[in-house]
Order: sequence, then structure tokens, then C-alpha cells
Amino acid sequence: MKPSGRIYIAGHRGLVGSAIHRELTRLGYTNLITRTRAELDLLDTAAVNQFFASEKPQHVVLAAAKVGGILANNDYPADFIRDNLILQTNIIEASYRNQIDRLLFLGSSCIYPKLAPQPMPESSLLTGPLEPTNRPYALAKIAGIEMCWSYNRQYGTHYLAAMPTNLYGPNDNFDLNTSHVLPALIRKTADAIKAGKQELTVWGTGNPRRELLYSDDLAAACVFLLNLDEARYNSLLIADAPPLINIGTGEDVTIRELAETVAHVLGFQGSLVFDTTKPDGTPRKLMDVARLHSLGWHHTTSLEQGIALTWKAVRATF
Ligand SMILES: NC(=O)c1ccc[n+]([C@@H]2O[C@H](COP(=O)([O-])OP(=O)(O)OC[C@H]3O[C@@H](n4cnc5c(N)ncnc54)[C@H](OP(=O)(O)O)[C@@H]3O)[C@@H](O)[C@H]2O)c1
Repeated sequence: MKPSGRIYIAGHRGLVGSAIHRELTRLGYTNLITRTRAELDLLDTAAVNQFFASEKPQHVVLAAAKVGGILANNDYPADFIRDNLILQTNIIEASYRNQIDRLLFLGSSCIYPKLAPQPMPESSLLTGPLEPTNRPYALAKIAGIEMCWSYNRQYGTHYLAAMPTNLYGPNDNFDLNTSHVLPALIRKTADAIKAGKQELTVWGTGNPRRELLYSDDLAAACVFLLNLDEARYNSLLIADAPPLINIGTGEDVTIRELAETVAHVLGFQGSLVFDTTKPDGTPRKLMDVARLHSLGWHHTTSLEQGIALTWKAVRATF
């Protein structure tokens, strides 16, 4: 992508989209195209078509999605499958009609089967049943991958689907009712410090293992992929396998280690108590990132550094 290239970032205010926007700005890209939901509702097919026809982006990052935690996915399954199918179809189709060559479609590790081998390789897609709680969301994402693959085969486009592991960073959701494990730990630890508590309760045994990637590292990986030379980029788009690549660190930590790192970074002096009456969830979720590593990309932000950067960015709002 040339620094003057017209790059549309769908979902530029979200955790992922905002990190990609920051990274492209940092690298000197000057023609970034963005629209808030109020300016362009991506569920509105006619509006999306009109937007593409008038703005004529050259590259597209599809980081807009209806995203939520277990509760939201459970309560609104129809919204999750419908909105994601419509939104991604609108953008993929408009991209094709407007001769967009490279499009990066963001999904997540929930596309892989619940009992996929650990670490999970790209080849485990559609090899077993999905985790039921977010199946509608995951199936919409799988349909998006299949669309990228189908458009590539039929229309000769170069659409790539990137599946990040669990992400965290400054624009994360820190609401205890709906947040993921790391922002929830940051919120709980900050609250415990504020209240002068000597004990901090963490759900579960602390034994499950999780992989976490700092959002700026994800953004760097996305830009790296979009900027790959033709030979390496096209090596990801072979005809007989989906155009799919995992993005992660390839390393995981226990929830206990995660809680201890958060406590250390935020300066919590008390002790951690593990409430074993609460469920643990999946024992392990780790991406196989051999494909990404073989292209030459590795993450650079350690977990401790990433938590410190996140805390620095959000502490004033707590
Ligand atoms: N967060 C993670 O840990 C994680 C991990 C792996 C993969 N991912 C993937 O990355 C992608 C983005 O996730 P995220 O965490 O960045 O989500 P997010 O923070 O909720 O951001 C999603 C963005 O999409 C926009 N959007 C949703 N519906 C829209 C609509 N109808 N019209 C216009 N804009 C709309 C939202 O706009 P508003 O701000 O106006 O709502 C928001 O800016 C998803 O595909 C997700 O699966 C995320």
C-alpha cells in the first residue's frame, strides 16, 4: 500500500479498527477513510454502495462487526448472525464491485471447533462442532471467510481473512458485566486498590491458559499482511484452502499468572484469592501462528509491557 493509498477502515472506533488507524497514521498513511456508524450504517446496502462509489477506496480493512460477550451472544443470537452476515456481505460485495484488490477481513478464534487441537492451526476450520454460546457469531464469521475464498476463486480478488487471538489495549471494554478476562482483571484490581482492599477475588481456579495480544501488535500484523509482496501475499490465497491466517503470540499464560501480572503493574499489594466455585471455561485456547511466523512477523509487546501501556492510557478514566 502506498502512503497516499486510499484505505477504508470499517469500524475505526473499535478496539481493532482504532489500533489499525493509529498504526497506519504512525506509518505516514495520509488517505485513511473512516465513517462513524451515524455517518454510514454498514447494514444499509444502498448507503454502503453509494459510499464505495463516491469514496473509491483502494484497500479495505473490515474491522466492523457486531461483537459481544457470552451474555449478549446468548440473549441476542439472531442479531449477531444477521447483523454480521449483512454488514460483511455489504462490504465484501461493494469491494468487489469497486475493484478493491486487497481486503482484510477480521474474524476471531471462535471460528475454530470447541475441541480443536491446541495450538489451533488454520486447518482446523470446520473440523468439528463449535462452542455453542457464540455459534451464530462464529458461523457468520465462517461465512465471511468462505465469501473471501469464493470471491477470490470466481472473481480473482485477493481477499484475506485474519483471525486474531484474544486482544487487549486502550480502547477495550472495561465494563465488568460484559468485558473479557484481562480488562475485567484490570478493572477489579484498580477498584481493589481504590477501596484499599487486601484481597482480590478472581473467578475460577486460575489454571486455564489464555493467549493475549496487544492491540497495537495486531495492527502491526494487519499492516504487515496488507503490505506483503505479491509472492508472499498470494501464498496465503491458494485455491484449495481458505485464505486464512491466525494472528497471535503463540504463547499463553495461566489466569493466575495474568492476575499476578496485572497486580504487579497496577501496584496491588494484597493477595489474590481464587473462587473455585466459579466456572473455569475452556482449559486452553492458543493459536498456531506458524504461518504468520514463517512470513517473518512476530509480536513485539510483552504481556507486562502491554498491560502497562493499557493502564497508562486508561487510568485517568477509572
Ligand atoms: N476484541 C477482541 O479481543 C477480538 C479478538 C479477536 C478478533 N476480534 C475481531 O475484530 C473485529 C472487531 O472487533 P473489536 O473488538 O474491535 O470490536 P468493537 O470494539 O466492538 O468495534 C466494532 C466496530 O464496528 C462498528 N460497527 C458495528 N456495527 C456497525 C454498523 N452497523 N455500522 C457501522 N459500524 C458498525 C462499531 O461502531 P460503533 O462504535 O458505532 O458501535 C465499532 O466501531 C471483530 O470481527 C472481532 O471478531 C476481536
